[in-house]
Amino acid sequence: MHRIRTGVPLILAGVTIPSDFGLEGHSDADVLAHAITDAILGAAALGDIGMHFPDTDSRWKGADSLTFLRQAHDLVRAAGYEIVNVDSTVILERPKLNDYRLAIRESLAATLSLALDQTSVKFKTAEKVGPVGEGRSAEAQAMVTLVRTLQPAV
Ligand code: C5P
Ligand code: MG
Repeated sequence: MHRIRTGVPLILAGVTIPSDFGLEGHSDADVLAHAITDAILGAAALGDIGMHFPDTDSRWKGADSLTFLRQAHDLVRAAGYEIVNVDSTVILERPKLNDYRLAIRESLAATLSLALDQTSVKFKTAEKVGPVGEGRSAEAQAMVTLVRTLQPAV
């Protein structure tokens, strides 16, 4: 979840979306990249994004969140996993994101070395309900499936 703020860009999986507002955060506030990073780490039980990239660390101030995705991918590969597929949802009242679906999927696929058909992004509004519906925040959810390619060292 990131708070909506004017005067900053709206970035989703590295793609800048034309919008009169963006999202607030310590890094570039790429809410979709953050949810997918957490899902990659979580599928391998490697903790969460704040453990690996704390927002108290000045290294990540204004950071390109695609870096977090790449590093999470490197960590799960080092633990003996490959990504099978990524599914994700951005919940944002406006603007309409449908026109940017392919660009976002291409950016994710390139960042994670996946094919387009392994890389899904969905969009929905919050039907005007709650902080997202009232236009105060944006939310993203993600699910990542991994396959174990190396047996764990016991
Ligand atoms: O939230 P709702 O079900 O009304 O959204 C309808 C459709 O509008 C979604 O399936 C999605 O394709 C699109 N959408 C969008 N951009 C958003 C929210 C929804 O393109 N910010
Ligand atoms: Mg609906």
